[in-house]
Amino acid sequence: MSDIKTTNVWFANFTSSAIVSKKTKEFLKRLGFYSNYQVARLSLGRSLGEPNFPESADDAKGQSINGHTLFGEEDNGGLLWLSLLIENIHSFYPDKEISLDVLQQAVKDHWHRGVFLLEQDWKEAGDYSNFVELLITRRATLPNESNYLAINDNNGNQQNNLIAKAVALNLGKDKDSGELIQWTINGQGYSPNVAIMGQAGAGKTRMMLKLLTELRTLTNVPVLLIDAGKDELAERPELATALGATVLKIPSQAIPLDIFAGSTLNSDSARDVTMAFRESLDKALVKGLTDNQKMRVLEALKPLFVKQENITMQDIKKAIEQYYEDNSIKPDRVVTIPNELCQYKLFEPTLSPSEFFNQSWILTFGNAPDESRRLTMFLLFDALHRYLQTLPESPMDENNHRAIRMAIAIDEARPLLDAKHDGLSKMVRLHRSHGLTVFMASQSPDDYAGQSDDYMEQIGLPICFKTNATSTTVLNNMFKSKLNFSALELGACLTVIENKTCKVEAF
Ligand SMILES: Nc1ncnc2c1ncn2[C@@H]1O[C@H](COP(=O)(O)OP(=O)(O)OP(=O)(O)O)[C@@H](O)[C@H]1O
Ligand SMILES: [Mg+2]
Repeated sequence: MSDIKTTNVWFANFTSSAIVSKKTKEFLKRLGFYSNYQVARLSLGRSLGEPNFPESADDAKGQSINGHTLFGEEDNGGLLWLSLLIENIHSFYPDKEISLDVLQQAVKDHWHRGVFLLEQDWKEAGDYSNFVELLITRRATLPNESNYLAINDNNGNQQNNLIAKAVALNLGKDKDSGELIQWTINGQGYSPNVAIMGQAGAGKTRMMLKLLTELRTLTNVPVLLIDAGKDELAERPELATALGATVLKIPSQAIPLDIFAGSTLNSDSARDVTMAFRESLDKALVKGLTDNQKMRVLEALKPLFVKQENITMQDIKKAIEQYYEDNSIKPDRVVTIPNELCQYKLFEPTLSPSEFFNQSWILTFGNAPDESRRLTMFLLFDALHRYLQTLPESPMDENNHRAIRMAIAIDEARPLLDAKHDGLSKMVRLHRSHGLTVFMASQSPDDYAGQSDDYMEQIGLPICFKTNATSTTVLNNMFKSKLNFSALELGACLTVIENKTCKVEAF
């Protein structure tokens, strides 16, 4: 069927169409890639995932990349690319003799179609993080659940300590029957995430703390409790003791975490960290960054993230100033903003992510200016997301109860939900398999509106105390029926367990 020699493939040139070269350049800028082959691989992958074979690309006047660069070393993905392509050609043209010419043509066609599909995805997504999300969650349709693989991991002990068993939290008594109502946080088929709503003084914080301390007692997992609005939780020594947590008041105390850890690993990591920083900065600022400013942040910081470890906000400030000076650019907000942010030492790179996230913390933001508060939280979520990505899946018991690794709880979550930064959304949507559980408390159901499409689906337990809010979309979505929340008595809430609405006397 084929007499293709792999060495010939590695030395052959693969050429695209002229329009592809143009679009590739645009993607290099958008994605912060450093080489054409990265865009080419993304395009090939995108097109290979389509259910039909691409039409023939118009011309062959575009750039060329040799096979070795395009596909990578034989034992580092090269053979995999080759087999994917050959399999693809074979599945649509079973009788076709696969020669080098046929392969080159197929690459050209897939590359051409892929880059156009990516462009549509880009337009649909609107920005970098949505684009990445769209590719990994909707285009690649990777499974949410998979069997646990015993991968060797740096946190060997941690992994061995993870115990998979059902963890049932007591919510309170059923208002009608008086029976105890429990919710198994880590069961199969729903997410271990809790959203608590209700008007001021209705009992949100109290409920969240009750559930968290119970979780901690049952599992001893580290808890990261964030009071995004007040300093209320900093003044509760009994809470800190119950959670085994250290209390930090931001911004007068810095978070002892190497927030950009791992950026020096390779140039892809540096790019990811730089892009995440740029997105976080953009979302943290009231007015955001212009496209030009975004480019400059990227250009100024990438070299820093490539080569330096234990980066501080001071380092970021200096790198940006240097970049503006070296390129004779008139200082603008990009230069002044880090200056303002550096009035506080928001982070101190003393602990590695693994050391930091394996302890319990109560972080309160009562006195932090809005932009610093948001930036600190966004960078913290980015760091947690990167840390969780390096971990193997959390094990499950024979009844599919997933071991819980850590809990993150956000009281007064409104400013975070409002900012639509994807950090919180990633916590809620992407790390269930790593054993993360998320608790959020926010007054109005409206606060949860306008998040990404599948956000609501990831709320395993909605809890609503008395509220006059009429955000029917969110409440109907979470509770699946029209309910009256405005007549709830003090201490009573409505929730849904196994598709059944329950009225609970929480306290
Ligand atoms: N452990 C407790 N025992 C008795 N009463 C409590 C306890 N904790 C809180 N309360 C009271 O319960 C009520 C609800 O408090 P909570 O702080 O949970 O409300 P909330 O919904 O978080 O309000 P806010 O939106 O203002 O943060 C308050 O009147 C509070 O004083
Ligand atoms: Mg509260």
